[in-house]
Amino acid sequence: MSIRFDNKVAIVTGAGGGLGRAYALELGRRGAKVVVNDLGGARDGTGTSDAAQAVVAEIEAAGGEAMANGGSVAEYDQMVEMVARAKERWGGVHVLINNAGVLRDKTFAKMEPADFEFVLRVHLLGGAYATKACWKTFREQNYGRVLMTSSSSGLFGNFGQANYGAAKMGLVGLAKTLSIEGARNDVRVNALAPTAGTRMTEELFPEQMYQAFSPDKVVPAALFLVSEDAPTGAILGAGAGVFATSYVTLTPGALLQGDDLSPEGVAAAWEAIGDRAGEVVPKTGAEQGAMAGKLLMGGS
Ligand code: NAI
Repeated sequence: MSIRFDNKVAIVTGAGGGLGRAYALELGRRGAKVVVNDLGGARDGTGTSDAAQAVVAEIEAAGGEAMANGGSVAEYDQMVEMVARAKERWGGVHVLINNAGVLRDKTFAKMEPADFEFVLRVHLLGGAYATKACWKTFREQNYGRVLMTSSSSGLFGNFGQANYGAAKMGLVGLAKTLSIEGARNDVRVNALAPTAGTRMTEELFPEQMYQAFSPDKVVPAALFLVSEDAPTGAILGAGAGVFATSYVTLTPGALLQGDDLSPEGVAAAWEAIGDRAGEVVPKTGAEQGAMAGKLLMGGS
């Protein structure tokens, strides 16, 4: 069955180039009315351009419908305004892909607090602000699909990306909680960790790898995760045509009592605490306490 977005309005932030552009073009091809958001800055977030307008022209040339939005995801009022314009023209908003991003890589030793704050502002607050601007509409419609763009740098860490990694793992936390809060109104929220040859990675990837990891190979993951039959609360990795799920897991753990309930006891039980046999993927945070309670009561 083909996945279509007819009668759906989709917002893609940071869609003036790279992955966002690829998502926006394919959403347009599959029938969505697309808001192409991008302030068109450089990779470090400085400056502006009309990159969004160029992608709108591409969508229209292919017979689709789109509008450009030059708002910054880091400014809540501008996200509210963007959603208002989309609703005014098309009557609703159904899909939001939080994709806008910047890089200010440095070792933590050399990173200025301002660079830490700026990167968190664009990725983490940007994702929260754009989603918040749509949230009431999603709930009223009893329909919404949201994608947060995470990263392997957040999930697993990466040298020189303390600010970026913190923001990207923050987006997983946001997606997890919103997937729980949105469930009653069929609002599904997922996270994507892409790997793609874009201006963000052009200095990191050798030429051959840059080509093999073209943005179009991530598009199927993003579009499935915002489709009608999307899962919710998933963390999907995608790059070069390889798709893999990441999980935040919890080991059964060890109950320490008496003298063992001490730092020395934790040290002695370190292996048992980390034993992955019987590991689970909790559906909500409350499950961690419930599992501890079970161990305490002697259950399994
Ligand atoms: P990109 O630099 O081509 O795309 C990011 C876009 O966001 C740019 O067009 C930029 O103008 C826009 N943007 C920046 N600040 C903005 C703001 N305040 N408001 C609106 N738009 C803004 O890079 P790429 O690779 O396409 O990145 C897309 C997303 O994927 C980012 O969130 C990035 O962190 C993430 N990502 C990319 C990976 C890769 O391998 N390329 C790896 C992991 C995550």
